[in-house]
This record gives sequence, C-alpha cells and structure tokens, in this order.
Amino acid sequence: MNWGFENRMSKLFKPDGHCFYLAMDHGYFLGATHSLENVGKTFEPLAPYCDAVFVPRGSLRNTVPPTTNVPIILRVSGGQSIASDDLTNEEWTVSIDEILRLNVSSVGYSVYLGSQHEHQTLMGLNKLVNACAPYGIPVMAVTAVGRELAQKKETRFLTMACRVCAEAGADVVKTYYCENFEEVVEGCPVPVVIAGGPKTDSQLEVLEFVHDGMQRGSAGVNLGRNIWQDACPTGMARALQAVIHEEATPKDAYDIYLSMKSKAKA
Ligand code: 5RP
Repeated sequence: MNWGFENRMSKLFKPDGHCFYLAMDHGYFLGATHSLENVGKTFEPLAPYCDAVFVPRGSLRNTVPPTTNVPIILRVSGGQSIASDDLTNEEWTVSIDEILRLNVSSVGYSVYLGSQHEHQTLMGLNKLVNACAPYGIPVMAVTAVGRELAQKKETRFLTMACRVCAEAGADVVKTYYCENFEEVVEGCPVPVVIAGGPKTDSQLEVLEFVHDGMQRGSAGVNLGRNIWQDACPTGMARALQAVIHEEATPKDAYDIYLSMKSKAKA
C-alpha cells in the first residue's frame, strides 16, 4: 500500500466516493477573471462547502492562507494566455520539488487531444505521472479543448479522451458533461469528474446537469464560474454540495440556493 497516495485520495474523495472540487485556476491563462481578482478572498466563504480547491501556484502562494484545511489541487500545466490564438500549446510547468514543497493533495494537468499539441501535452502527462508516482501524489488529467468546446463536447470524443488520459496514468480525469455520460464513465477505469463550462444564467440548469452526471456515474465536479460568478456564490456551493453528497434533487438544491440567496439579501 502506498500510504501517502491513499491518504491524499481519501481527502479528495469523501466516504461516499464523491467529490466537490472548486475550480479557481482560470488566472493561469485568463489573467484577473471577474470575481477571481483575488482567489483567496473569493475562496474564503466557499471553503466550508468544497472538498478541494484547484489553483495555480501564484494564487496559492500569495492569497490562500497556509493554515487552510481544504486540500489543494495544484494546476501544473500552462504556457499560453487568452491573448494568443492557440490555447493548446501547453507544457508541464511546476517541478516535482515545488509540488512537494507546497504540500498539495493532487496536481491538475491539461491534455489537448486532437490539437496540434496532442503529442506534447500527452507526453507531458506521462512524464508528470512518472514524477508524481514515487511520492504518492495523485494526478488529475483535464481533457482540455482550447477554443473548440462545441465540437469536442461530444460523447465519443470525451470517452476516448478520458480513456487515453487514464491509460497515461491519471488517477482522476476531469471532463465535460455530455449526453449519455455513463459511456464516458464506463470507458474510464479511474474516477471521472465534471468540469463546468461557460457561465450560464440558470442555476437550475447547472444543478440539473450535475445531478444527471452523478446519476450516470460521475464521482463529482470541478466547477468554477457557475459558482463564484453567481449572484450568491455560497448558495450555489451549498446547493451543489447537497446534490453531490446528500442526494438532493435539482429542485431541492435550487430551493436551498434560493433560501440562502434571500437570507444573504436580508
Ligand atoms: C480551466 C479549467 C477549469 O478548472 C474548468 O474549466 C472548470 O471551471 P469552469 O467551471 O469555470 O469552466 O480547467 O482551464
């Protein structure tokens, strides 16, 4: 048994096998995104609801208190910004020494399958897994799509992408919600978590796709904008926690959201 690995995984997944990761890594290519100008400040009221937070090292070192009890998933890929035409030209960015020094529970790395940087990003995942395995650091692969979200949010593509990442040694795979999500889960030998996607104006829509994904075998979510860009971020976080860990229906969770929102206004 690899005790360190099992210990980290037990923090990343609750006893029900589910997980709620808060994605706050966007700054690594988007810069100071709205509501994420200061990651630590936005994170503080949301911390009680999530099981881990996904952040780049700059925000972690400078804005998240080292006293936090929330497990950290460190973003360890990058190399492009939104100012560039091609968002896929990424590499592994954070050394294993720094990963260990930051005492993180996991690392997150994007793979751009079907892009001109497929080989580079997939080989980077293999090398990252090789570097993390001796230290028991779980690796979360992100099936990233750059600017081609619409074309690549297709079940067949995502099923292939998740399996390829798992075969490279990823311990968890994060991917987009799609139709027949159970096909993605069935083809992937490690837990699959759902990414968020663009901000929507309908909280119920988010709660519904998360609920459906969970029913179809997803282990949980890694969501960002639909939480911290919402009018009531804590309400959205609490509502998602209820869907993920308490078997709440989307309607029940939405009622939780509305009640927290009206209390916050009062
Ligand atoms: C960005 C990411 C994000 O973590 C992921 O997309 C989830 O965030 P959101 O819910 O805002 O889409 O990997 O590269």
